[in-house]
Amino acid sequence: MEARSILITGASSGIGRALALAYAEPGMFLALNGRDRERLANTASAARAQGAEVATGELDVRDQRAMTQWIADSDRCCPIDLVIANAGITTGLRPGQLAEDPAAVRAIIAINLIGVLNTVEPLIAPMCARGKGQIAFIGSIAGIRGLPYAPAYCTTKAAVHAYSESLRGRLEVSGVKVSLIIPGFVKTPLNDSIAAIKPLEISEAGAAVIIRRGLEKGKPIIAFPKPLYLLAALARVLPVGIVDKVMAGIGVSIPQTPERNA
Ligand SMILES: NC(=O)c1ccc[n+]([C@@H]2O[C@H](COP(=O)([O-])OP(=O)(O)OC[C@H]3O[C@@H](n4cnc5c(N)ncnc54)[C@H](OP(=O)(O)O)[C@@H]3O)[C@@H](O)[C@H]2O)c1
Repeated sequence: MEARSILITGASSGIGRALALAYAEPGMFLALNGRDRERLANTASAARAQGAEVATGELDVRDQRAMTQWIADSDRCCPIDLVIANAGITTGLRPGQLAEDPAAVRAIIAINLIGVLNTVEPLIAPMCARGKGQIAFIGSIAGIRGLPYAPAYCTTKAAVHAYSESLRGRLEVSGVKVSLIIPGFVKTPLNDSIAAIKPLEISEAGAAVIIRRGLEKGKPIIAFPKPLYLLAALARVLPVGIVDKVMAGIGVSIPQTPERNA
């Protein structure tokens, strides 16, 4: 399916920005969201320079009312063919730290899960009424199996995976496709904040190419890199005690996010 009108959250940085630029071309309408005015404007002008028509929504994805309004306005202006729920943060544990800050946990759930619902819900009815459209979720390999370094992050991504699977089964009959993107390590500011070995890490631009290709084919799952995805899937079925022991032996340090509930 070739999308000509695309809404992307978290387009001011990282994967979201790379996706905006991967799609930016003449005849394309992009509705781009982020909170940081300067970085969002920077993505928008780079996309315009490539020939796309761009509108920006400088909004916090946690703000349901503002998101509903902005998405409805964008859809009225240029019916959205593809929505990519990408905005997200990370938070986790440093070596020796036992529990996450409850405020950081609630903030990540509000952004990575409720923010995704705020992005997707307003488009379900209009897309189904049109009998076409595509809804894409950015999950994570960290959503396949809980990791001892990032309990809340893994929880939000596992929830996004389950939500997207449920939606896919429900919306297919209405002509609306649902795709779950499951990236491994992609070099972005979010990923740079994590101290760990990052096998098979790829660039933002490389990730955007894989994602665009998968979405154009209407793939239900776009997981990359394949070896890491298969390893994570294997970790789900191997004996729990063995996997826990291996994971506990890997040195990972993830800073606590400074986010608070909006
Ligand atoms: N990088 C990886 O290795 C990796 C792997 C798997 C999955 N992912 C997922 O990919 C997505 C993008 O991450 P990234 O690596 O590209 O990180 P990034 O460079 O830090 O970008 C995150 C984007 O999300 C936006 N954002 C965060 N909180 C927001 C909020 N409350 N409201 C609106 N926008 C918000 C940020 O915008 P502002 O800064 O303007 O607020 C920014 O544009 C996330 O869902 C992440 O979990 C990343």
